[in-house]
Order: sequence, then C-alpha cells, then structure tokens
Amino acid sequence: MRHLMNALDLSVSEINNLIALAETIIEEPTRYSEICKGKKLATCFYEPSTRTRLSFESAMLNLGGQVLGFSSADSSSASKGESVSDTIRVISSYADICAMRHPKEGAPLVASMHSSIPVINAGDGGHNHPTQTLTDLLTIKNMKGHLDNLTIGMCGDLKFGRTVHSLIEAMVRYSNVKFVLISPDELKIPDYLRKDTLDSNGIDYKEVNILEDVLPELDILYMTRVQRERFFNEEDYIRLKDSFILDKRKMKLAPEDMLVLHPLPRVNEISTDVDDDPRAAYFKQAQYGVYIRMALIMTLLEVIPECWK
Ligand code: NCD
Repeated sequence: MRHLMNALDLSVSEINNLIALAETIIEEPTRYSEICKGKKLATCFYEPSTRTRLSFESAMLNLGGQVLGFSSADSSSASKGESVSDTIRVISSYADICAMRHPKEGAPLVASMHSSIPVINAGDGGHNHPTQTLTDLLTIKNMKGHLDNLTIGMCGDLKFGRTVHSLIEAMVRYSNVKFVLISPDELKIPDYLRKDTLDSNGIDYKEVNILEDVLPELDILYMTRVQRERFFNEEDYIRLKDSFILDKRKMKLAPEDMLVLHPLPRVNEISTDVDDDPRAAYFKQAQYGVYIRMALIMTLLEVIPECWK
C-alpha cells in the first residue's frame, strides 16, 4: 500500500504514467466509469477548499465509486479534540482511500502512519500540495506537449504557497527547466527549497521583484495568491497582497504561446480582463485536476496495477 505525501514520493516514470493515464481519460472520459464500483473515498478537510475536495469527489464518482467526508474541522470531532491519528484509524474502516487537507504541516503524514488505507496529502499548511502539482504537470504536458526545456515564472507568495513548493520540487527532475521567481523580498521561497532543491541540483534560477521585466522570457507564468491565512499579522498582508497584478496590458509583453496558470482561488492577482486571452489556462487547469485525480485514485487503489511500472 502506498500513500502520497509529497510529489517526490513518485518517480518521474510513475508521474509520467499517471499523466499518460489521465490523457487516456481525457480522450475517452467514460472508459473507467465502473472501475471503482464498491469503493469509497473519504475526504477529510480541516481547511477550506473548493477545487481540491470537489475534484477528488468528482473523480471518484466518475470512476463509479462513492464518497463521504467532512469539509471543515468544525464539523468533525477535531473540534472536540480528537487527534488525526485516531480519526484516520476509524476512517480506515469506513473507506478505501482518504484525501486529507490540514492547516498543520505534516498532519497527513502522521495520519498515513496510522492508516490502513492509502492517504493522499491534499495540502498541509504552507508545505506541500502534491495533487495540485500533478494537475499542473498534466496541464503543462497536455497544453505544451512536453515537461522539459521550459522557463517557468512563479509569481506572488512563494514563501507560503505550497503549490509553488511542490511544483518546484517536481519540475527540477525534468531537463533544462529554468525558474524565474518573482516575489516581494518578504515572500521569497523558503531557504530549504533554495538550498536542497535548486542549488544542490545546479538548477538555473533567478529571484526578481518586477514581473514586467521578465515576462518576455517565460514559457509558463504560474501566478499565486498571497496566502492571507498564513500571515502573522493583517498589516503585512494588506501591504503585500497586491504586489503583482497581471492584466491585459502586461500580457502584451508576454510571448504568444506563454501559458498563464494559477492553482486558484484568485483574489486580485489576475485581472478578469485576462480571462479571455487564449493564453489564460487556469480554468482548464482546474478541469485537468479531475482527470489526474482519477488516475491517482485508480493507481493507489491498484485497480489497474500496471500503473506502478
Ligand atoms: C491552493 C491551495 O489550497 O494551496 N488551492 C488549490 O488547492 N487549488 C492555492 C491557494 O489556496 O492559494
């Protein structure tokens, strides 16, 4: 039995297999509509979510399975003081697989250590969000055709944005990938990522704070929201929240084939006047989240075991 805590829990060939499986689903959406019949997915969400939780549920329903769960800590026994390890012991006897989101870094990992069913980290604090990364990789692969030879701009809250952390860790394993990290000084990527992931792998990257200057050199622009809930004080959030706003005027500086991605939810960082631009791929990206989660559920439940090859 395997869990998914971090994008690095999967080898590059396992990720490529998941992407290939998701692409078969895109071509033939009903092909696996019965494969998880009789299986249940539990979504245990201790933090707000729209896309992640509902795309997991949609994915399981598309596979013929069923779903149960809770969508806030308040509506679970966490509000009575129950630990995640006790909760998962119990959920293990109610469901076949569990997707868990938690505000504390490492909580899904603790759950996985006490679980007898596969646990998927659906976002742990400011740390990791591996299934968003799988979604991002599928989007890039399907829309660009490849995952190597890319210059990726990441813009916004690179300090607390867990989707950025997981995506950097996953993308450094493809060849000739360069990063342009665009953020205010206070919201730069954490030191551990700079040292252990970028520097130690000899990755080409630069850290800048003006978006306009670097737009012409990007293949992908990954915008992110300033993560209000992770700030220690509201004043800092207010000062930093509108550091970068992508709009129609700035899009004129970007290459014609650059993709704009965003894990969503968006606040102000992408003006709605960008939505009609053919390069805006963020709503499509949310749709890809269902296909890759279908592939992941099938793989972790080993209903098509050849995936692990
Ligand atoms: C992201 C998250 O929860 O980290 N949302 C998502 O899962 N698509 C990004 C965010 O909340 O800003």
